Amino acid sequence: MIPFYVAGRPATSSDVLTVRHPFDGSVVGETSYASPRDVEEAVAAAAGAARAAAEMSAADRAAALDSVSRRLARRTGEIAALITAENGKPVKWATAEVNRAVSTFRWAAEEARRFSGDLQRLDTDPAAAGRIALVRRVPRGPVLGIAPFNFPLNLVAHKVAPALAAGAPIIVKPAPATPLTALLLGEILAGLDLPAGMFSVLPVPNDRMAPLVADPRLPVVSFTGSGPVGAQIQAAVPHKHVTLELGGNAAALIAADWDDLDFAAQRIATFANYQAGQSCIAVQRVFVHARHMAAFTPKLVEAVSALRTGDPRDEQVDVGPVIDTRAADRITQWIDEAIAKGGRVLTGGTRSGTTIAPTVLTDVPADAKVCADEVFGPVLVLTAVDSDEAGLTAIDDSAYGLQAGVFTRRLDLAFTAHRHLHVGGVVIGDVPSFRADQMPYGGVKGSGSGREGVASAMEDYTEPRVLVLTGVAL
Ligand code: SIN
Repeated sequence: MIPFYVAGRPATSSDVLTVRHPFDGSVVGETSYASPRDVEEAVAAAAGAARAAAEMSAADRAAALDSVSRRLARRTGEIAALITAENGKPVKWATAEVNRAVSTFRWAAEEARRFSGDLQRLDTDPAAAGRIALVRRVPRGPVLGIAPFNFPLNLVAHKVAPALAAGAPIIVKPAPATPLTALLLGEILAGLDLPAGMFSVLPVPNDRMAPLVADPRLPVVSFTGSGPVGAQIQAAVPHKHVTLELGGNAAALIAADWDDLDFAAQRIATFANYQAGQSCIAVQRVFVHARHMAAFTPKLVEAVSALRTGDPRDEQVDVGPVIDTRAADRITQWIDEAIAKGGRVLTGGTRSGTTIAPTVLTDVPADAKVCADEVFGPVLVLTAVDSDEAGLTAIDDSAYGLQAGVFTRRLDLAFTAHRHLHVGGVVIGDVPSFRADQMPYGGVKGSGSGREGVASAMEDYTEPRVLVLTGVAL
């Protein structure tokens, strides 16, 4: 049985958690759920380690993070295979995820080295002559990181790496469908010389999370997952520092000036369907200036139809299964609802087990679930717009606001989009799915609050503390 980690020590319980392959239901491995005693031990150890963690030197924190980065890199093939096995994403995307996590930890080492604070002059007022302020950021305390299934390594890395970089202990709760990759990361962390209690990786069933979320010894909760659960967490602990990364229905606009329709079709086809659409920034809504619609539609349909579905262990496969039968059922129902509301299927619309064929819909009203909610499946909706301005308005007509993509070469349109779209990020000349791991990443409206991206998460995990010095001149 694969152990979980309580205050850095491997542990097991009799409460077995069997992890199954989303493609064929075969058993991938067995771990166990942490018992309430394990949870208490982890929380007490995290609270007990807070001071030692905050006092670790930058050199030690950076060395630990660099070491994780190198160890992940050395085991890329093994870890990618594990991600594919428990999550079902094709091995090429799993490999890309490991590479990203290698970079996330390497970036965190860099951020740990430069995390210094600011000097503020106070002699701007005669009453404060001879005074200066040092503004340093100190950890708020131990972090509870709740991770989703769709990036079982890199979205765990985005919680763990900034915590180590900022000097905050962390307890990670992986998704029940994909705990094994997080536990492998736990194994790597356990090989480092960290203060006892600096990290725990605890599989806990979702319906047993309330006490952990409410525990006052964990003042920061960093959650990535669904909107309703995020809202429950926020409501349960309004006094805590809660960051929420809750997903979206990301849109791309092909503006009137964009002439490379082949490129746009390829990028949209790929990033509507990568990891079977199970990314919060997968392309879901595509708005095309009416002048391009006739030329663009067949290019997009051809690019989407060319994607290979099948066993994600096959290097040639582009689109694997979604996470489980329940997700496949829901996505199928949403496609059916769109068709019932007048939508037309241009390609896809079929299903085999947990694999949904990459699907392009058009003529779908904006209130259909495939437009208005987060599909989290390989489905996109194509809509013509009469002007670029109408396209931006359509992008913004959403309960979510994570990222948007605008295919344009016009600088003025790029700035207009950046000024007017209510999102966490605008990508010009590409799909909304672009993410570099050092960028601030997160959303507004139903997409949540707070930002990940190593330096941004370090801000969330810390608070400013001012040191006023008297009798000094600058
Ligand atoms: C997410 O699904 O929010 C993460 C997307 C990414 O890291 O590329």
